[in-house]
Amino acid sequence: MYRVGIVGYGTVGKRVADAVLKQSDMELVGITAHSYNYKIGVANEKGIPIYAISDITELSENGIMVKGSIKNLLANCDVVVDCTPKKIGKYNQETYYNNFPNLKAIYQGGEKADIGASFVAQCNYRECLNQKNIRVVSCNTTGLARTLHAIDKKWPIQRVRATLIRRGTDPGEIKRGPINAIIPCLELPSHHGPDVRTVLPHIEVFTTAVVVPTTLMHMHNLSVDLKEKGATKEDVIEALRSSNRIRIVKSSSGIVSTAQIMDYAKDLGTFRGDMMDICVWEKGLGVHGKELFFMQAVHQESDIVPENIDAIRAAMGFENAEESIKMTNETLRLRR
Ligand SMILES: NC(=O)c1ccc[n+]([C@@H]2O[C@H](COP(=O)([O-])OP(=O)(O)OC[C@H]3O[C@@H](n4cnc5c(N)ncnc54)[C@H](OP(=O)(O)O)[C@@H]3O)[C@@H](O)[C@H]2O)c1
Repeated sequence: MYRVGIVGYGTVGKRVADAVLKQSDMELVGITAHSYNYKIGVANEKGIPIYAISDITELSENGIMVKGSIKNLLANCDVVVDCTPKKIGKYNQETYYNNFPNLKAIYQGGEKADIGASFVAQCNYRECLNQKNIRVVSCNTTGLARTLHAIDKKWPIQRVRATLIRRGTDPGEIKRGPINAIIPCLELPSHHGPDVRTVLPHIEVFTTAVVVPTTLMHMHNLSVDLKEKGATKEDVIEALRSSNRIRIVKSSSGIVSTAQIMDYAKDLGTFRGDMMDICVWEKGLGVHGKELFFMQAVHQESDIVPENIDAIRAAMGFENAEESIKMTNETLRLRR
């Protein structure tokens, strides 16, 4: 049984906690509370053990049962999943190293790549086996790596050009935007292309990005040059459909936007109503000689959740990548 602690219980942390609770080979030892809020209130109602980052007065006054400090939590864990805002994971790494030399740590995509081995389960699980520090790459990088890897395995890729249309913020966030603007990322390439190469170093990827006023999902428009001619639209659709954590969606069924994808996820009764699969539109995929075009939607809050579960197993030395992915898919009710 892998004993798991979660530091940071926001958008990602609360989802990873729910996912850990579904795993028969994992025990959720507890989560940390940084301040009192409704998310911590729900964790308390669910009976999840809560450990304080600092002073417990505010938590106790609000009826939160505090089991101890973050150090008490970490002392009883084999692995910590750090889900704090970007840059805090790097800061926490020192605490983990100095106080708990045997603790394995999983970080999120907001951290820089030098914090640990970059991870996307279906691309490089084995390379991350037994690593002390693993970084589950960002939602966008995970989305790009999943589909590009599935294509590259069958039809080696020469190069990729992608434009990312990024959501302004998450649905529960009220302090960020934009509300009425499109913000171009003027850094070229945007950081996503180089980040994909931390997982798939042999694929040349150049990305540009804009941020738009939406909260539901990101969209990626990709243009992929294959090394050889020969792939057909039908073959590529089939290769994507038969890959893990990728879903082909049909505009003929009425799914013509990210809004309908998220409504579809709720109708399907997915885990937490999330869409952990990367959704590729069948109609929007085309092959022209060696060039392949497609569009995909990424549910930023959740595509990295199954990756965190597999990263825990990889860090703990569970050798069978396919088996880990299968267990995670089954417990989180992913398609395959
Ligand atoms: N949101 C996404 O869509 C998304 C997708 C993929 C990857 N990521 C990455 O995942 C990480 C977490 O993002 P998030 O969106 O889940 O952030 P979030 O919703 O802001 O949650 C962060 C959590 O960390 C807590 N926290 C803040 N400062 C802390 C500290 N010093 N020590 C311990 N806990 C602290 C926060 O508590 P308080 O609320 O009480 O401050 C909150 O519970 C980031 O690296 C991000 O880039 C995010």
